[in-house]
Amino acid sequence: MNPTIDILNAHRSVRTFTADPVPAEHLEAAVHAGQMASTSSAVQAYCAIDITDADTRREIAELSGGQAQVESAPTFLLVCADTRRHRLAAIDANQPHDTRLEAFLIAAIDASLFAQNVVVAFESMGYGICYIGGIRNDLPRLDALLGLPEGVYPLFGLCVGTPAARDGATPLQRPRLPLGAVLMQDRYHDDETMRAHMQDYDDGYREYLRERGVKDSQLAAAWSPRMAEYHRVPRRPALAEHYISKGARLD
Ligand SMILES: Cc1cc2nc3c(=O)[nH]c(=O)nc-3n(C[C@H](O)[C@H](O)[C@H](O)COP(=O)(O)O)c2cc1C
Repeated sequence: MNPTIDILNAHRSVRTFTADPVPAEHLEAAVHAGQMASTSSAVQAYCAIDITDADTRREIAELSGGQAQVESAPTFLLVCADTRRHRLAAIDANQPHDTRLEAFLIAAIDASLFAQNVVVAFESMGYGICYIGGIRNDLPRLDALLGLPEGVYPLFGLCVGTPAARDGATPLQRPRLPLGAVLMQDRYHDDETMRAHMQDYDDGYREYLRERGVKDSQLAAAWSPRMAEYHRVPRRPALAEHYISKGARLD
C-alpha cells in the first residue's frame, strides 16, 4: 500500500543476529523517532538504557530465563516507564507527586508507544528486533544490578541487530487474528461472533504450526487453548510488590 505499511506488515521477531554492531547514529535516530511518538500530555514518561557491559548483559540474559539473544544481540535496550523526571520536578517545585495507577498506566502506555516507534525505525533501517518481557522475571535482581532510582519501572528489553540469515530464509511470520476479531463497528461482538473468529484463527494457526514443523500430535495446541493455558495461573505475581517498592502505588 505504501512503504511504511509494507515495513509494518513485514514484522517478525528476530532472535539470531550477525555480529555487526549497530552504529551510534542508527541508535540515536531510532530513539529520536521513538521520542516523536504521541505522549499523554507530553509527560514523556520513558527511558531506554543501552546495556553495553558484557557481564551485565549475561546476568540479564540469565534472569530473563536464559534467553541467549539478550547476550548475543549487538544492541540491547532496557525500556522503562520513567516518572523520575516528574518526581524531580515535584521536589524542585516543593509539590506533592502523584504515583497512583493512572500515572503508572500513562507511563507504561507512553513507554510502549515510544518503544514501538523505536522498533519500526530500526526495522525501516533493515534491523531485526525482539522484545524481551523476560526481564520482568526478577525485577529486584535487575534493579540491584542497575541501581535504578525510585520512579523507574523496567517494562521490557529490546534486542536489536542485523538478522542472521537462517538457511537463507527469514523466520516464518506468526499469523494474527482475523481483522474482524479486532475491528468492530459501534458495538462489541457477541460471544458467538467472537468464537467464530477465534475458530477461524485456530484453523489457520494450526496450518502455521504445521509449516513450522510442529508434530501432528501437538497441533491441538492452537491459539485459543494456548491462551486458556497461558492465563490459567497468575504470571509474575511479584511485579506489583516490586513496582510499589520503587514508588508506584498502583491503586
Ligand atoms: C512486551 C513483549 C514482550 C516479549 N517478550 C519476549 C521474550 O521475552 N522473549 C521472546 O523471545 N519474545 C518475546 N516477545 C516477542 C513475542 O513473542 C512476539 O512478538 C509474538 O510471538 C509475535 O511474533 P512476531 O513478533 O514474530 O510477529 C515479546 C513481545 C512483546 C510485545
